[in-house]
Amino acid sequence: MSVLVTGGAGFIGSHTVVELLNEGYDVAVVDNLSNSKAESLRRVEEITGKKVRFYEVDICDEKALTEVFDKEKDVTDVIHFAGYKAVGESVQKPLMYFENNIYGTIILCKVMAEHGVKNIVFSSSATVYGNPKEIPITEACPKGEITNPYGRSKSMIEEILADLYVSDPAWHVMVLRYFNPIGAHKSGKIGEDPNGIPNNLMPYITQVAIGKLPKLNVFGNDYDTPDGTGIRDYIHVTDLAKGHVKAIEHIGEEEGVRVYNLGTGRGYSVLEVVHAFEDACGKKVPYEIAPRRAGDIATCYADPSKAKRELGWEAVNGIEEMCKDSWNWQSNNPNGFEE
Ligand code: NAD
Ligand code: WQD
Repeated sequence: MSVLVTGGAGFIGSHTVVELLNEGYDVAVVDNLSNSKAESLRRVEEITGKKVRFYEVDICDEKALTEVFDKEKDVTDVIHFAGYKAVGESVQKPLMYFENNIYGTIILCKVMAEHGVKNIVFSSSATVYGNPKEIPITEACPKGEITNPYGRSKSMIEEILADLYVSDPAWHVMVLRYFNPIGAHKSGKIGEDPNGIPNNLMPYITQVAIGKLPKLNVFGNDYDTPDGTGIRDYIHVTDLAKGHVKAIEHIGEEEGVRVYNLGTGRGYSVLEVVHAFEDACGKKVPYEIAPRRAGDIATCYADPSKAKRELGWEAVNGIEEMCKDSWNWQSNNPNGFEE
């Protein structure tokens, strides 16, 4: 059996490929490198001492994707990370997001079905809960009002996959709703390498700490939280990656669409993350309080107990390791994967 990983050269994908290889899985990656570099997979091979078959292919290209599946006859399962993920950009370019994320998934599922591959693990997001009705958030929490096209693309894909299962019960679908992945592989060889100025908190902090950016803007300190700054469930990317290995181990067990929150169950405020990071890197991170960012909510953290119960998975790394490993990656690779 082989696992085909779409978007496997990206941040979460590359860490997942490491964990799959370490568990003895045979892995093929499809990525068009629109938001990543092939160097990440070279480093995955360096970390694991194992080979990955890499196809530089766009999942929207049906012909090219068909050729990959024609060659990869042992593929039984797909982990589907490929997609665009920048919330702000999705507001500016909704059609680009819907085309890449939704059309790409449709083509992928079509080609999978034609090749008799009907096990799919999909990267969804806590963003589908909108402003959640309950905290901590369980999977039973209804989806909320989503404020941007990126989030809507995730929610729609969840529904497309559910419809697919209704049409053909041979499909096994695992929807993984990630909370806020940060950190990097312990080796410091792979990590998050955003293009341009980062949108997300941790890569912004690491770039301030290394001197590329002058200061962090803390978006709002008047939320209804203990220190007034937003609270999120940050999860170490290696823990998240291991959640995918568990999903693959369990995917055939039950029929239907199974949804899991992958988070730690513990929320940290922006200022708590800043201070934890300062402890990890031994430097001050200059910051300034700025206005709230449109679309942000006060508090978001998971109840991850379903994944523990049913998949035997739980996050083990705390905020200290997340900050330490983010800093290790950034300080060893100030320009990301560029030499
Ligand atoms: P990433 O951008 O690092 O990885 C996505 C990968 O997909 C990139 O390597 C990119 O080149 C590739 N890709 C994009 N469109 C493609 C296409 N049409 N064909 C082939 N390859 C394509 O992002 P990530 O942080 O690793 O996220 C992975 C997945 O998890 C995404 O679907 C994202 O929406 C989802 N997710 C991410 C977060 C997060 O905060 N990072 C949270 C929740 C969900
Ligand atoms: C975290 C906290 C900000 C940057 C996003 C997506 C979500 C998911 C994960 C993909 C918030 C604050 C941030 C900064 C700040 N991605 N912040 N200054 O918004 O929780 O989630 O990434 O699925 O869909 O929306 O993550 O890292 O952007 O923000 O003060 O420069 O840090 O306001 O409270 P978010 P984030």
